Amino acid sequence: MKVICVVGARPQFVKLAPLLPGLQEKYETLIVHSGQHYDDPLSACFFRDLKLPQPDYNIGAGSGKHGLQTAKILIRIEEICEFEKPDMVIVFGDTNTTLAGALAASKLKFRIAHVEAGMRSFVRAMPEEINRVLTDHLSDILFCSTETAVANLKNEGIVNGVHLVGDLMYDALRIFEGHAGLKSSVLKNIGLSAGEYILVTIHRAENTDDHDRLRFLIDGIKNINREIVFPVHPRTEKELKNADLWMELKSKENMHLVEPVGYLDNIALVRNAFMVLTDSGGMQKETYYFGTPTITLRDETEWVETVDAGINVLLGKRGLDEVIEDMSRKTFETPNIENSAAARIIEVLDNG
Ligand code: UD1
Repeated sequence: MKVICVVGARPQFVKLAPLLPGLQEKYETLIVHSGQHYDDPLSACFFRDLKLPQPDYNIGAGSGKHGLQTAKILIRIEEICEFEKPDMVIVFGDTNTTLAGALAASKLKFRIAHVEAGMRSFVRAMPEEINRVLTDHLSDILFCSTETAVANLKNEGIVNGVHLVGDLMYDALRIFEGHAGLKSSVLKNIGLSAGEYILVTIHRAENTDDHDRLRFLIDGIKNINREIVFPVHPRTEKELKNADLWMELKSKENMHLVEPVGYLDNIALVRNAFMVLTDSGGMQKETYYFGTPTITLRDETEWVETVDAGINVLLGKRGLDEVIEDMSRKTFETPNIENSAAARIIEVLDNG
C-alpha cells in the first residue's frame, strides 16, 4: 500500500512523528509538506526535534488569505496525487492544509483517513471549524481521539469508518518527554526555575485579529504578579504591534517575550509551568497529560474532557486575575492512559 501523509503546520508535525515509524514499516510512505508553516521555529525546528525525515514534497504555499493558501495547496496536492496514485491520503487536524489535502484526494477518488476527526467547537466563525466539518464529511476513515468526537460525528450522520483510537499527541509526549528533559535548556536560558512562571501562548485569529479581544487578554496578562514566559507566534507579534500593545508588554520586568519555541522546549515549558494560559488545542491536552492547570483563552473548547477533569477552565469574558486565583488553589492528578493511538491506527489501516 502507498500512503501519502499531508502536513504543514506545527501540530501536524507532532501527530505525524509517533505514527510515521509504524507506517514506514508496513507501507510505502510519502510526506507532503504544504509549507503553511515555513519559519524555522514553526517548521524545520519541529522536524529536527521530532526526528522527522525531510518531506518527499515541499509545496511551499506560505501565508496568505484562506482561499489563496488553501487553493495553492489544493492545486499541488492534486498534481502529486495524480502522479503518485496513493492508496490512502492521511490528513491531520483542522488546518487549511488538512482541508486542501482532503479535497484534492476526494475529487480524485483516493481514500482519505482523517486523524483527529469529529472535533467540534460549534463555532462556524472559526476557520478551523469549517476545515474540520468539511474534512470529516470527505473522509473514508475517521480516527477519533475522544468519545465526544465519535458522538459529534454520529450527530452529523457519520458512523461508517469511525474508529476511536486515542490521541497521537499523547503518544508523542511519551516518546519525547525524556528527550525534552535531557536536551531542553530553555528554562536555564530564560533564567527561570520550575514552578515559578506562567506560560502564555496566543495565536488564534479570534484572539489576535480582534484588537478589543487582544487588548482584553493583554491587560489581564500585564497584571499578573508572577514571571511570565510568552513565546510569541508571528501572527500575534504582528497584531500586538498593530494594536500598539507590543511595547507595553515588553516594558514589563516579569515578561519574558521569546520566539516560538520548538517541540522539546515547549514540552519542558508546559511540564514545569505553575500554570498555562493558551488558546492552542494541542497544549490543552499536553497540560492535561502533565497535570499543569490551564486557562483556555477562549469561550469554548473541542477538548471538553479536559474541562470536565477540572484541570482546564475556559476564560470566556471573566477577569484573568479571578480565574488564576481560583485555579491556583487546586491540584491535579495526571491521567493514566495505556493506549497507543499510533498502534490502533496502523491496526485499522491493516484491516483495510
Ligand atoms: C494554523 C491553523 C491552526 C493551527 C495552527 C498551529 C488554519 C486556519 N489555522 O494557524 O488551526 O492551530 O496553525 O500553529 O489552518 N506565519 C509566519 N511564519 C510561519 C507561519 C505563519 O510568519 O511559518 C504568520 C503569517 O503572517 C500568517 C500568520 O502567521 O499570515 C498565520 O498563519 P496561518 O497559516 O494562518 O497559521 P496559524 O495562525 O499558525
